[in-house]
Amino acid sequence: MSTIVAPSLLSADFANLRKDLEMINRSEADWLHLDIMDGVFVPNISFGFPVLKYVAEYCTKPLDVHLMIVEPEKFLDRFKDLGAAFYNVHYEACTHLNRTIYEIKNRGMKAAVTLNPSTPVCMLRDVISDLDMVLVMTVNPGFGGQRFIEHSIDKVRELSRLIEETGSDALIEVDGGVNFETAPRLVKAGVNVLVSGSTVFKADDPENVIRTLKQL
Ligand code: DX5
Ligand code: ZN
Repeated sequence: MSTIVAPSLLSADFANLRKDLEMINRSEADWLHLDIMDGVFVPNISFGFPVLKYVAEYCTKPLDVHLMIVEPEKFLDRFKDLGAAFYNVHYEACTHLNRTIYEIKNRGMKAAVTLNPSTPVCMLRDVISDLDMVLVMTVNPGFGGQRFIEHSIDKVRELSRLIEETGSDALIEVDGGVNFETAPRLVKAGVNVLVSGSTVFKADDPENVIRTLKQL
């Protein structure tokens, strides 16, 4: 399986959003990653439903929604109606994670759980068999363009072992500081899905960056 690439819209040019969405549609990107922030779970606010409605209308790629918000179960129906493919909740934001996973799946979306850099992989042992994907944060969530946390490589290896041991089908996704130096090492450690914001959108030739990341 070739590496799945999901550019993160957070680093797009919001004054020319349509142009960037057209670039994504033309490109070899597999999915579009959407970062939703509430200013409570993370110290930043990103974009909300008026923008998302437009993005969902124009984007031809599956939407990978990353909810950096408290009580992420509140918006299940809104994102289902928007056509989200993946509903990605933070482990740290869910008191009843098992229930939330089933509520995602009951709506026909794929269920993913995200781990902050300080949350160990073992916290997912009792839900790993139910998951379609685990997102390992490789920076502290909230901002694009941050520096990669090196310990993430060990974490990906550990998650890879857990998935193998339990026979889970979960994909491993990483998000934050993914660039041409970190991406090959992440793929080697077992990553299936690369999220990339600034490396893609700040490049002179974003389509070429996407193509190169896919070949890793
Ligand atoms: C950060 C977001 C990321 C962000 C990554 O909280 O979850 O998706 O866009 O940006 P880069 O790739 O620039 O680190
Ligand atoms: Zn993200």
